[in-house]
Amino acid sequence: MNDLLKNTLLRAVHAGADVLKQYFEGTFEIRSKDTLNNLVTEVDNKAEDAIIEVIKSVFPDHYILSEEIGELSSASSYKWIIDPIDGTVNFAHGIPICCVSIGLEFESKMLMGVVFNPFMNELFFAEKNKGAFLNNRQLKVSIKDKLESACLVTGFPYRWVEVEKDPIAVFEKFIRLGLPVRRLGSAALDLCWVAAGRFDGFWEYNLNPWDIAAGYLMIEEAGGRVSNFQGHAYNVYDKHTLATNGYIHEEMLALIG
Ligand code: IPD
Ligand code: CA
Ligand code: CA
Repeated sequence: MNDLLKNTLLRAVHAGADVLKQYFEGTFEIRSKDTLNNLVTEVDNKAEDAIIEVIKSVFPDHYILSEEIGELSSASSYKWIIDPIDGTVNFAHGIPICCVSIGLEFESKMLMGVVFNPFMNELFFAEKNKGAFLNNRQLKVSIKDKLESACLVTGFPYRWVEVEKDPIAVFEKFIRLGLPVRRLGSAALDLCWVAAGRFDGFWEYNLNPWDIAAGYLMIEEAGGRVSNFQGHAYNVYDKHTLATNGYIHEEMLALIG
């Protein structure tokens, strides 16, 4: 069964990525969702359709949670959690830091995840207890064990009103320590880049399951740690996410919490 699931997952992510490649730097319709710069393009919808078509052709009864169409609920223990474009603002501006992200949950636990940035030809794949890989190379988080030598990445919410703490105040704490903090614009890639050891830690307020599902498993399988801002064990429906190589987790928690 797992081979068929993996094969379908990979076919689905490629089907989505083909749509992204077809439209990248071309013309396409762009709309605002709830706020001015929370964008959705026709490419998000087309990529989502292509991904779901692949999944449904093999597993018509599986549960689907996808950013643009929402939930196609069913009684299945398998749930596919889809972000057809993570980094839509980047995509809309022709910035090649964006990806298709698909996580697969079985009995409420992440089983597999894939994140594919077709513009850098980087495909991240993870399977529970079987490791995380970038284009078939096994991933391991970094071994930096002090925050003072870490390189971090974060993101900011589109809507400030929904965040009870001020994300800028937290950002400022890290900046005042003189730490390099990047903002790439794709939470799924941020997580994968922590798994790959490029970054040592990532935090962000107000994420959604489709931003995190695949990247979360990537970090776990690369030996890192993911928690909420209280340091509690994580699940992908938690809004606030801290993901690190594990070594600097407590130091980051002390600043964020
Ligand atoms: C967004 C990206 C971004 C993060 C936002 C997300 P989208 O996803 O992951 O990095 O800061 O919170 O909503 O809208 O491009 O799918
Ligand atoms: Ca997203
Ligand atoms: Ca998206």
